This record gives sequence, C-alpha cells and structure tokens, in this order.
Amino acid sequence: MHESTYIDEIPLNHRKDYGQYFTPPNVARIMANWIMKHNPQTILDPAFGLGIFYDEIKKINSLNYSKFIGYEIDSKILTYIDYNSNKNITLLNNDYLESDIGKFDGIICNPPYMRFQKFLNRHNVLPIIEQKIGKKLVGYSNIASVFLVKSLSELNKNGKLAYIMPLEFFNTGYGKEIKKSLLENHLLKHIIIFENEKEIFPDATTTVCILLCSNDDKNENIKITLVKSEEEINNKHDVDNLNYFEIKINNLPFNKKWSPIFLSFFSEQKIPEGFTKVSLYGSFKRGIATGANDFFALTKSDLIKYKISNNNICKCITKSSQLKNPVFTEDYFHVLYNNNKPVYCLDIKDHNEQSIIDYLKLGVKRGVNTRYLTKTRNPWYRIENRKPAPILFGVFSRGHLKVIRNYSTAINFTCFHSFYPNFLFGGNEIDKLFVYFLSDIGQAIIKLNKRVYGENLDKLEPGDLNDCFCPNLNQFALIRQEEAEKVIEIAKTNQELAVKMSNELIERIIK
Ligand SMILES: C[S@@+](CC[C@H](N)C(=O)[O-])C[C@H]1O[C@@H](n2cnc3c(N)ncnc32)[C@H](O)[C@@H]1O
Repeated sequence: MHESTYIDEIPLNHRKDYGQYFTPPNVARIMANWIMKHNPQTILDPAFGLGIFYDEIKKINSLNYSKFIGYEIDSKILTYIDYNSNKNITLLNNDYLESDIGKFDGIICNPPYMRFQKFLNRHNVLPIIEQKIGKKLVGYSNIASVFLVKSLSELNKNGKLAYIMPLEFFNTGYGKEIKKSLLENHLLKHIIIFENEKEIFPDATTTVCILLCSNDDKNENIKITLVKSEEEINNKHDVDNLNYFEIKINNLPFNKKWSPIFLSFFSEQKIPEGFTKVSLYGSFKRGIATGANDFFALTKSDLIKYKISNNNICKCITKSSQLKNPVFTEDYFHVLYNNNKPVYCLDIKDHNEQSIIDYLKLGVKRGVNTRYLTKTRNPWYRIENRKPAPILFGVFSRGHLKVIRNYSTAINFTCFHSFYPNFLFGGNEIDKLFVYFLSDIGQAIIKLNKRVYGENLDKLEPGDLNDCFCPNLNQFALIRQEEAEKVIEIAKTNQELAVKMSNELIERIIK
C-alpha cells in the first residue's frame, strides 16, 4: 500500500469525486479480526481503494481462505497497488453497485461517502439493487447506505460483515428501513463509536462508526463500544476485548434516532423522569441563508456610503461573534451598529429607490446574482421573510453551548438557529426554557444530541434541538416567572452567576 505516495500525487478533487478516505490500519485490523472469526472461505471488499483490509486480513491468516474479491471503480488508484503475484485475490475495476457476484462469508468495507445525487450512474443501478433486495430504496441520500444494503443482501448464512458508516445514518429517515432489517434479522451485533474521532480518522468529514454484523440469526443483545483514544484500539485487536455496554434489541427502536441513545450510555447525564421534547413548546429553524453574506450584511458605513434607506434593510445578527452575552437587547444592538458591525441585512421593499438600483447593479457586477443560492431565487436578492426569534442557539460551539435570549427586533443569519414558540405552550414558557438551556443540566442533556466535528467542536442542527428533552409544563410550573426573569436580568452582566442560579432552579424541578 502506498497511501502517502497516492495522497501526494493525486489531486484532492479526484479523491473527493470518488469518496476516497482511507481507513487507518488499527481500525482496519479490528474490522478484519471480526470477519475472520469463523474462517471465511470467501471475502469481499466492495470499495477496495489501496487495499488496507486485504493487507490486514493477510496478516491474521496468511490466506487460508480460498477467494478474496475487491471492487474498485477508479482505475487510477489501482495503478498504485500490486497484488498480481497473489493468486487468491481478484481485483475488479468495476462499479460494485452494478455487480452481481453471489454471496460471501465475510464482507469488509469503508464505502465511499458522498451524496447519492453526485453519483452519475444512480439511475441505472438503483432499480437493479431494488430488484435484488426486493425493496424500494426511497430517499437514500448517501451512497454509503446503498453499499451497506447491497452488502447485507450478499452475506452468506453465518457470514460476518464489518462496515464503516456515518453515525448520522442511524438518525436519518431513510436509515429506518435498514435499521429495522438489521434488528429483525438479528444481523447487528456491535457498534463502535469514537470519542476523539479526528485523532483516529483525521480526514473524515462526518462522524463515523463501525458496524459489525453476523448473519447467524441469534437473538443477542447489541454491544456498543465508545473508543476513547487511539491507544485503546492499538492495544486491542479483537473486538471482544473492547469495553462495551449491552443494549436489548427492544430498547433500540428502529424509528427513533440512535445516536442520542448510544451517547446516553456514555454520558453521566441521564434524562430526568417526566421530561418532554423541546418540540412541545415550538421549533428551532435554521437562520437566514443569504448565499452572499458579504453583500447582504451591512455596516453603518455601508449604509451611509450606498445611501441605503431604512425602508430597505432589517436588523440582523450576521455573525456568532457579535453576541458575547447570553442576553441580546435593542441597546446592545445599537452598540454594535455604532461600532460599525454589520448588523443590518439588505431587505428590499422599495425597488425603485435609486440607491437600491445602484447597489443591486454593484451586486450583479460582483456576480452575487449567480451564486449557488441567489441564482435559484426570484428576484435573486429576495431574502426569506422571518420574524425575530426570542431564543437563539449557536450552531457551532466549543464547551458551553451558546444560547441567547433575544429581546431585540433583529433576525439572524445561519450562525444561529432561531426558536419560534408555538401559540399553545411555547409563548408562556420562553423565559423558563431559556433558563433551562442556560443551566449545566440543560446543556448536558442537549449535548446528548450533538454531532462532534473534531477538536471539540460541537454542531447542533435544528432537528437535534427540537428532539432534545426539557422539563414538561408541570415541571416548569415549579419555577416562578419572576425567578426566571431574575436569572435573565443577572445574565446581562454576569453569565457565571446566571448559570449558577439557573442550575438551582432546574435542580428544584428534578428533585
Ligand atoms: C472510502 S474509500 C475506502 C478505501 C479503502 N477500502 C480503505 O478503507 O482505505 C472508498 C473507495 O471506493 C471506491 N469507489 C467509489 N465508488 C465505487 C463504486 N461504485 N464501486 C466500487 N468502488 C467504488 C473509491 O474509489 C475509493 O477507493
């Protein structure tokens, strides 16, 4: 294997186009050990790459099995390997998704991870795979899951499969059917997730996990391992030597998101009794995506320079760094404005104003109208119609999750998710919800739903926040409105004290 030579010589674009991310040898070893447990006679790697799995299997069992088949669509990468002298390996320079090659005792794979829409041949292959597995593949947005479905259908009785998958796959709608089949057919045995995943998968663009399956029809508990550091897998090659929690199949409903369930095992934080979903009170929405923030976000000097009137702008938080404090008021908005921060957004109501005609001309000259998002809009400069949200949540955060009680009339860009309370319950509980989000307990519970982006950078999508647990109405009734308002008042000047006060209020509920 010449991974470093390959990476040095082959442009990143080529590697991206084929979804080429390489499995580190220590991870490949664990996966290889799993599939070699029952001396498979036939082994398949559907996305061969530079052959790390073949190399690791060879080390375990110097080729006692009869047949190893590797599929690889990219002819270029195959020129970097030389297995010609080995009789028991067949490398096929073909599209695995188009293949029909029977069944295997062992299947091991790190599938290409890319959007299915980018996969040109998809219109041809989907019907063939659907026919083979006897199921419709609806809404499949990533090619990795199509690989998995196909491979599962190619596993012999008692065969074993080891796959690297995006962890998010367990939370998606299209993943439900596969999860159902993994559980009902007793295929899923062990899931390995990684705490410091950038340490182990430095190139991964998404959170990944290892899926270990066996077609043995044994109704067993599913094991879940959290690998905390690279050392753990360097020392232990056999999955059975890893620490794990066991979960009953019944406690893993196929129609629920799985990553919060997994993470709840490893977190000290348990969800208190009676808690309900945040979505009872309203919903988080993504902030406004302009497609060209540099053009739409305007400072005081921009407004003067381009003579843009109040009629054609709206107040807007355009960057996460603008909000340093958990409470955002109209006064603070003016401080930002006077400090020449871009806190207005172009929001055109009067198209005939000369200054607007000129500013739009400038936009066209800079090509703003042809950007990815703007070119699909009509007219290209129209922005979404949004109301200011009373609670904002930072999309990315390190450590403490950024939550803001917004009293201003500013809307926000995508740096924050906006919470819109519903009419029935949300409106009355806004301050208490904010207190909960600010508290250490609230933060720990919300973090159960986070996606880790490496280097301790956490990301939350609106759906993750809507699915988070929070106190129910009766529990919130144990906090008086004045108490919540007091926390917010203190939060304007002293965040640490406000967090302490919010902890006391939320602990009262839990006790
Ligand atoms: C994520 S890489 C994994 C490579 C290697 N198995 C490893 O783990 O290091 C996926 C590989 O699958 C190849 N690939 C992409 N689409 C494919 C397809 N439809 N059929 C077969 N191979 C494909 C890519 O070129 C790439 O080498």
